[in-house]
Amino acid sequence: MGTETQTGKKQWRPLEKMFNEVPARYDMLNRVLTWRLDERWRRTAARKCLEGEPTRILDLCTGTGDLAIRLASQVNGSAKIQALDYSQPMLSVARRKAEKNGLQNIEFINGDASSMPLENEELDVIGIAFAFRNLTYKNPDREKFLHEIYRILKPQGKFVIIESSQPENPLMRSLFRLYLKVFVAGIGGWLSGHRRAYRYLAASARNFYEPGEVRKLLISTGFQNVEYQPFMGGIAGLTVATK
Ligand SMILES: C[S@@+](CC[C@H](N)C(=O)[O-])C[C@H]1O[C@@H](n2cnc3c(N)ncnc32)[C@H](O)[C@@H]1O
Repeated sequence: MGTETQTGKKQWRPLEKMFNEVPARYDMLNRVLTWRLDERWRRTAARKCLEGEPTRILDLCTGTGDLAIRLASQVNGSAKIQALDYSQPMLSVARRKAEKNGLQNIEFINGDASSMPLENEELDVIGIAFAFRNLTYKNPDREKFLHEIYRILKPQGKFVIIESSQPENPLMRSLFRLYLKVFVAGIGGWLSGHRRAYRYLAASARNFYEPGEVRKLLISTGFQNVEYQPFMGGIAGLTVATK
């Protein structure tokens, strides 16, 4: 999306230009770089989002739509699923995939997470897959995003985050960091043709918060009952917070 300045020049939001450039090989690289574990982790996140039969669910920063598509195919009944992203190229891929899967119950929204076109306390659940890091790690708009997420959730609403994390075990942590350097930044950058994007991915995952820091961030926004479940020794994890 971007915004026009007075001189007619496009002003990109943090990371926006980078995400506009990667959709063509984005899904393929996710599968290759995680040995398809990303699909399993998203499936677990979708199950968590659907607990308690919510009627209004948002896949925030949907990208190529994988979480929204899982939600739409796993949901029972007539829940409304929305999927928001500021990257039109990402959303085009997501729309095509939803159509191919015959799913008509997803509303795609081109918008920014810092000011979403949604009313106060509209949603039962917000899910976010592998984008919480983008919204919070060294992002100048971090507080705006967190308060916006809190604003649109109903009281008792759930915020479900699936994200890379930090293994507790020092050996596992070193292996994870080596993997990020060699496979994600090196091979990912080469296969994608977007070295800068995959260097950013590796560096942000390497330096991202500990689970306890994520918890503090959510509590300081107003969330309560923050629960964390590590996957694969903590290279990724599921965090669920309640408003
Ligand atoms: C790493 S991708 C994750 C995509 C998807 N959720 C997945 O599971 O693969 C991050 C996505 O967040 C989107 N994004 C980043 N910052 C955003 C913002 N401020 N508002 C809306 N979307 C944003 C990007 O365009 C990109 O599609």
